[in-house]
Amino acid sequence: MASAEHKRLAYLDAMGIQVWKARRAPPHVIGSADEHPPTPEESVVELPLEAEGTGTATETAIVEPEIPAQAPGVLEFAASADWPADDDIPWPLEEDGWVPAPDEPEPDQVQDTLSPEPLDWESLERRVAACTACALHQSRTQTVFGVGNREAQWMIIGEAPGEQEDLRGEPFVGPAGMLLNEMLRAIGLSREQVYIANILKCRPPRNRDPQADEASACEGYLKQQVALIKPRIILAVGRIAAQNLLKTNLTIGKLRGQVHRYEQIPLVVTYHPAYLLRTPTEKRRAWDDLRLALGTLRQNP
Ligand code: URA
Repeated sequence: MASAEHKRLAYLDAMGIQVWKARRAPPHVIGSADEHPPTPEESVVELPLEAEGTGTATETAIVEPEIPAQAPGVLEFAASADWPADDDIPWPLEEDGWVPAPDEPEPDQVQDTLSPEPLDWESLERRVAACTACALHQSRTQTVFGVGNREAQWMIIGEAPGEQEDLRGEPFVGPAGMLLNEMLRAIGLSREQVYIANILKCRPPRNRDPQADEASACEGYLKQQVALIKPRIILAVGRIAAQNLLKTNLTIGKLRGQVHRYEQIPLVVTYHPAYLLRTPTEKRRAWDDLRLALGTLRQNP
């Protein structure tokens, strides 16, 4: 087998994608009497990559994709022009009934997670661990801060901790995490090389979708993590992550296939691995997304 073809098949194999191969022998019926019944994975037969003009059965696994010239979705944190100047704000007087505020809390107890003040890793981690900014702190076992290389080029952002993550305090350690590891391996990355975090640091009860108030209460923590890591590419896995990061209600179908920006950093959207576990036929599209992210990184040295 040509080495490029061998490499491509190895990538697909790492992602758990079965590749259809032409047989000279008469067609073989999966699930016939002389064979064990097909597992759900076996019953899915994937064709080689040839959709959407991204490749054919004979080319190498990684093809530099075309990056759209226009990078939509730039999120900027701009100060409001309407903000009054200090001099325009009247000072409250005690004789008007104003009661002085109690002493400022220690920085680590401050609940404003969107504080523009940059924190170091230790303070940020402590602040997250003690967070009570939304009701999820009441039901969590522990916060799930994030894991991986703090100087990573790749940052993977998911939705929220599930049951396993809540118990272990680490993102993506359940079945979806196993597939995420495979997806990373397919593009030559180990889990230890990337940084993995979620939109929410606490598990929503029964894994329900994060609510808007929960996501915005947690937003500052993720922003701080991104600012500390300064990744070169962000992979948003799943609709919830993509919509929250890009501040949009667009469907994942509309968000995939483009290079967006989060805090100026290129961001590519792909399916959530939990969805891919339920719908393995979409793994081929996820593979296209991974290639788009890889190509984007290579084009922005
Ligand atoms: N799903 C996510 O989005 N994040 C996790 O950490 C686990 C499952």
